[in-house]
Amino acid sequence: MYVNNKKKACEAVGFKSEEYALDKNTTQQELLSLVKELNEKPDINGILVQLPLPNHLDDKAVIEAISPKKDVDAFHAVNVGKIMLGEYDFLPCTPSGVMEMLHSCSIPVSGKNCVVIGRSNIVGKPMAMLLLHENGTVTICHSRTQNLAEICSHADILVAAVGKPKFVTADMVKEGAVVIDVGMDRDENGKLCGDVDFENVKEKCSYITPVPGGVGPMTIATLMKNTLKAAKLQNNID
Ligand code: GUN
Repeated sequence: MYVNNKKKACEAVGFKSEEYALDKNTTQQELLSLVKELNEKPDINGILVQLPLPNHLDDKAVIEAISPKKDVDAFHAVNVGKIMLGEYDFLPCTPSGVMEMLHSCSIPVSGKNCVVIGRSNIVGKPMAMLLLHENGTVTICHSRTQNLAEICSHADILVAAVGKPKFVTADMVKEGAVVIDVGMDRDENGKLCGDVDFENVKEKCSYITPVPGGVGPMTIATLMKNTLKAAKLQNNID
């Protein structure tokens, strides 16, 4: 679903996209060779390796093989380091899409209690960093956090990126909070849902993002933005 939506978005904005749907038994060497080949192709401006990879592949090594200039996911250590320093070319797609939503709704971050549930390299960690860059007071909660519900209940901005269906319930949410749901889960009937119990939480908060149709499209929009930026950087266009 992710990959199809990315391909459709490329078509919509006029980018050429190439999908390499490799066999599940592809070796590390074969994958690294493909990444290297794409790094060297001047008509390819952005490369992303859709995660997760099968267990026998080392995703860290694969990500490190992508040229940082073409790393439109901003997962490469060079780009992660630049983000930490606040001097970046690309921002990771999901956290950047979340910030864009906050900006477009004129939701202030500075001085606010921001709680991020989840500490993944893809969402939780960079999300916390972007909120911090905008002067939020940021707490990262994870599977070992004690009093998680209590911490969440103080959040002005609550970002759920746990990967557990309807994990965030109304009692964990402060009245009037802004709730951002990064989850892509399945409920007990196999229906797509988020990390937030939307129906109950929506009565309590001031803003909430739905799943599907909330953060997901923003992730893809940022990917398009990053790809355009990569093309400009590689061709010295302002
Ligand atoms: N898997 C889940 N989210 C992402 C993402 O943003 N990029 C890639 N490459 N893989 C993912």
